[in-house]
Amino acid sequence: MPIYRPTVAEISRSALCANLAAVRHHARGADVLAVVKADAYGHGVEIVSRIFQSRVRGFGVATVEEGINLRRLGVKKPVLILGTLWPFSSFAVAARAGLTPTISSISGLKGLEETARLTGKFLPFYLKIDTGMGRIGIRYDMASALLEAAASSRRTVCSGIYSHFASADFDPVYTRLQYERFSSIKHAAARFPRLARADFSMSNSAGIFFSPRAGFDLVRPGIALYGLQPSAVATRKLDVAPALAWKSRIVFLKKIPRGSSVSYAQRFIARRESLIATVPVGYADGYRVGLSCVAPALVRGRVVRVAGRVTMDMTMFDVTAIPGVCVGDEVVLIGRQDDRRITAERLAALLGTINYEITCGISARVPRVEVA
Ligand SMILES: Cc1ncc(COP(=O)(O)O)c(C=O)c1O
Repeated sequence: MPIYRPTVAEISRSALCANLAAVRHHARGADVLAVVKADAYGHGVEIVSRIFQSRVRGFGVATVEEGINLRRLGVKKPVLILGTLWPFSSFAVAARAGLTPTISSISGLKGLEETARLTGKFLPFYLKIDTGMGRIGIRYDMASALLEAAASSRRTVCSGIYSHFASADFDPVYTRLQYERFSSIKHAAARFPRLARADFSMSNSAGIFFSPRAGFDLVRPGIALYGLQPSAVATRKLDVAPALAWKSRIVFLKKIPRGSSVSYAQRFIARRESLIATVPVGYADGYRVGLSCVAPALVRGRVVRVAGRVTMDMTMFDVTAIPGVCVGDEVVLIGRQDDRRITAERLAALLGTINYEITCGISARVPRVEVA
């Protein structure tokens, strides 16, 4: 569909590739499974999967639907569903699309075996071990029966065993504990010849950069591929660069006299004669109401601020101090202009949230456009 509104998220191919190279460097030889769930963290899975398709071992998604979408986009590589499948009838759908499910229980494994029997297919799966995340996965200290069942299943094959770090960005002690628990699972699995070919995987982005020894066979980076930091409290910054720039343009400009208000609830009152720019982006695009009156943006290389409340489709900015400003000028909501930058982390801090939520929250209404 042609783009008529000047609000887009630009996705940089070179940044994605450089970030993947940084991940590989820190992963010390482990293969990469690129996590592209949630529309590639809001970066547009179509663009991201096309760029990474020939460069990674496979992809990680959250749901069967996301996996089917990757197949529809022509992705041939292995696709691991990182979420849990329920009801078990969805195993058949996943099998038909050639997606690899995650199994966390004996009942899940039985459900998959039944699907294998009904479809006549030999089905691969990954086992999920909970070493301290407390989400899906069988607890590391209760996993032996499931390991044994996985090793003796005739219709299915355990092609991977994985776990997930909870605090690899800031807590080396807990991370080490999780690593040791997972290492003990690896040791236990070594007793079963049918698990010998399974890939072991533990590290998310923070794990890759801060605990390189925990790479095992396969790393699962998400946020680092997109050039974002795994947290605001990490002791060190990852050497990656943001791949997404969120841009729009001024579509309307008007002078208002001192004392006039802007937007709903009159939260902006002009302290002087002011120049107010209207920009076609609002909370329906993911530019959240919490950014009202506070969020910075860049126009002509200078910082401007939201004037009044963000509305559903439009947001006003006070551009009084920008010489020569005119309709059509670029407005950078996230990204760089000249030597200034607005980061997803900055917007996240203003909203009391994390950068993941900012990019995931850029809605489907905003076209993702690939740039060099
Ligand atoms: C199971 C699993 N692996 C890997 C990742 C990637 O994590 P990150 O984006 O922090 O690299 C996620 C993301 O939440 C996940 O749930």
